[in-house]
Amino acid sequence: MTALTIGPLQVATPVVLAPMAGITNAAYRRLCAEQGAGLYVCEMITSRGVVERDRHTLDMLVFDELETQRSVQLYGTDPVYVGKATEILCAEYGVAHVDLNFGCPVPKVTRKGGGGALPWKRTLLGEILEHTVAAAAAYGVPVTMKTRKGIDEDHLTYLDAGRIAQESGVAAIALHGRTVAQAYSGAADWDAIARLVEHVDIPVLGNGDIWEASDALRMVAETGAAGVVVGRGCLGRPWLFRDLAAAFAGDTVATLPTLGEVAAMMRRHTELLAQHLGEERGCVEFRKHVSWYLKGFAAGGDLRRSLAMISSLAELDALLARLDRSEPFPVSELGAPRGRQGSPRDKVALPEGWLDDTDGTGYGPTEDTNETTGG
Ligand SMILES: Cc1cc2nc3c(=O)[nH]c(=O)nc-3n(C[C@H](O)[C@H](O)[C@H](O)COP(=O)(O)O)c2cc1C
Repeated sequence: MTALTIGPLQVATPVVLAPMAGITNAAYRRLCAEQGAGLYVCEMITSRGVVERDRHTLDMLVFDELETQRSVQLYGTDPVYVGKATEILCAEYGVAHVDLNFGCPVPKVTRKGGGGALPWKRTLLGEILEHTVAAAAAYGVPVTMKTRKGIDEDHLTYLDAGRIAQESGVAAIALHGRTVAQAYSGAADWDAIARLVEHVDIPVLGNGDIWEASDALRMVAETGAAGVVVGRGCLGRPWLFRDLAAAFAGDTVATLPTLGEVAAMMRRHTELLAQHLGEERGCVEFRKHVSWYLKGFAAGGDLRRSLAMISSLAELDALLARLDRSEPFPVSELGAPRGRQGSPRDKVALPEGWLDDTDGTGYGPTEDTNETTGG
């Protein structure tokens, strides 16, 4: 197995938990880390929220005591704000890795020139990267960027972005093999990942459609990526990180938990959420995960609905006790997509005239907080 090297950071297994807004909070990162070894990235944090000490943003900047490599994804469109936020993260929050979000497809983000729209403006992209790298370098912290192929097939940005990232001192680049217009639909284009590997010297992390550990090995073999970034495949399946660690160590492990074992994982997840957020909020936060954990199992509709309305651990325990613990894992779910897929967009929401010019910084996108991005 080859460890993943991101600047000074060594990650034992070349596996990264994809930042997922509303999912990859401290409790979920800990849950996944209990299963495998990798880099577990925090949910997206807005630079403006950090700089202005916005309560909602700071509430998300929480780390589990066992998190030895604190990794945060920052969103921003203003080089000065992103640089300042990076400085605060490194100096005050002990962050060991900063990832920059240049892939978000949400219309209210791209409409302002942020997320997946931003790499079209190459000069601005370079300025944000340079400010971030300079701020992080003072603390020996590596910076990575995560991006998509482009805005749509006619406006691809990833190869230029890779070059600019490398020139700016970025330690690695993660590529989700879809355009903004595709959102989460269709299949991820792994050939694009291979092309980026050819194009740059810094490590490339491949992202998109890893549903099983064998997919991760195949992606690395087919693209030459230095590691993989796993998002939706681990929703309701944190043990995927165990299978991934085993796969990269040369073992074939496909964990097939019984419904009883899945119930124990659901309990552990809720318990961790309760520890971090308090019991009631933790239980409410867990509700969105119920259908992912039970996907493919025979558990009845009433029970599922009740689980998706829990407010206490006692309620959760009473409901989990009604599951048939011996029910085997539904193998038909193996390799099947999970989480959001949606449909492609006819038109990506962009600022007026955004596509007219690739180099200008003339447009001054407004900075958002987590409140305004919903991230
Ligand atoms: C619920 C959800 C939230 C996400 N939030 C973020 C985010 O905040 N930042 C980001 O860079 N990508 C985000 N993504 C995209 C994932 O990180 C990843 O790039 C994408 O899901 C493709 O990988 P996958 O096929 O392994 O899921 C999100 C995806 C999902 C499903």
